[in-house]
Amino acid sequence: MVPGSFLGAVHRLAPLLILLSAFSPALAAEDPSLIVSRFQEYLRINTAQPNPNYSDTKEFILAQASSLSLEAQTVEFVAGKPVIILKWPGTNPSLPSIMFYSHTDVVPVEQSKWAHPPFGAHLDGDGRIFARGSQDMKCVGMQHIEAVRLLKQSGFEPVRSVYIVFSPDEEIGGHDGAEKLAESEIFRKMNVGVVLDEGLASPNEDYRPFYGERSPWWLVIKAIGAPGHGAKLYDNTALENLFKSIETIRRFRASQFDLVKAGLKAEGEVTSVNMAFLKAGTPSPTGFVMNLQPSEAEAGFDIRVPPTADPEVLERRIAEEWAPISRNMTYEFKQKATVHNKNGKPMLTATDSSNPWWGLMEEAVRKANGKLGKPEIFPAATDSRYFRLLGLPAIGFSPMANTPILLHDHNEFLHKDEYLKGIEVFGSIIKTYASYVEDSRDRSSRDEL
Ligand SMILES: *[C@@H]1O[C@H](CO)[C@@H](O)[C@H](O)[C@H]1NC(C)=O
Ligand SMILES: *[C@@H]1O[C@H](CO)[C@@H](O)[C@H](O)[C@H]1NC(C)=O
Repeated sequence: MVPGSFLGAVHRLAPLLILLSAFSPALAAEDPSLIVSRFQEYLRINTAQPNPNYSDTKEFILAQASSLSLEAQTVEFVAGKPVIILKWPGTNPSLPSIMFYSHTDVVPVEQSKWAHPPFGAHLDGDGRIFARGSQDMKCVGMQHIEAVRLLKQSGFEPVRSVYIVFSPDEEIGGHDGAEKLAESEIFRKMNVGVVLDEGLASPNEDYRPFYGERSPWWLVIKAIGAPGHGAKLYDNTALENLFKSIETIRRFRASQFDLVKAGLKAEGEVTSVNMAFLKAGTPSPTGFVMNLQPSEAEAGFDIRVPPTADPEVLERRIAEEWAPISRNMTYEFKQKATVHNKNGKPMLTATDSSNPWWGLMEEAVRKANGKLGKPEIFPAATDSRYFRLLGLPAIGFSPMANTPILLHDHNEFLHKDEYLKGIEVFGSIIKTYASYVEDSRDRSSRDEL
């Protein structure tokens, strides 16, 4: 590092050091580079699917927990896939606890497309840390731990119990981690009142909170029709039947996309439909038989349904317009995630006064000199859905402002100053949430949410 940029770095850190010292004089003594190096250590564990290194991950997290004297429990709902539950007990265990949730696995990389090794956690001269998982979402898991360290050093004592949970398999659906955890007796006993899970980076100065997510419906439509000579024009062939549907689906897709393009709706607020495959034709040794109209054809679509949509209306549309029996068509879902929670309500976390956690979050972020943008619907699926399904409030929040959205992309990075700032923000949230005692509202809001 050249002397000039060193000065720049010191300058950028100055506000942080002042804020940290507001928490405690002891903490101001901690060198931010040590905090960053613990993050790098976590990033260097290769947890890419399909073979995340769970043993190193577990060892690392448990060592962090022990350095903070947190209670730790490792649960394997499925052998070899650890869910790690850390607990900072509150002084009033009868109040619902708060859960800070992250996943340890990351998506695979195309090594050759990276400027720095994806599991090297290279810190460049500008302060950017390059690694798979730097945004999605090892940053958040480690910030949860560092925020607890910050609060412990300041002498803070939580009234509510604070759980920090790490799960193994969000990137492949969360079925062996979050889904099983949410259904477990262990989770019921944790008596969780609110969940914080992942969000997305924000290219501007506002953090992006997420209060819902779209549900994936993976649809396959099939057409059958009279087979015949490739030279003959006749009605009711399988492909003609299928193409009528594809045209209808494309018109629907365009109408939804137009709402986004016109700025009337955000990406997470419309139903997206994208074709995933087309399957038809009669194979021959050289490709396909060219003078034959096949008797079967099918197409697959990835549909994402916002919690605000009426699932019955969409399903009727599919049955009547996209795969009508009158055109000899059938359909099936490869996946059809529910849009409603167990109480039959849309899977949305309230962002008004009916949900005290929302207001407390706004307050906590403000206190840490951060700004929250308008709440959004997450465009893809996260593990939050398993908790929202139970009717629990869950907020998606990854504090990364002024950061390009690089999750699942090559050269994923996070600036160390944004990372450090995020620790303060989580410190403020944990402090605010863990001190909140108006429990009578918890119960009633929980039923409503
Ligand atoms: C995890 O990484 C360590 C090196 O840090 C290695 O010894 C071990 O074999 C790895 N385990 C798996 C399952 O890849
Ligand atoms: C549906 O299939 C039947 C039996 O193969 C056929 O007679 C009829 O013409 C088909 N109708 C359409 C609309 O494809």
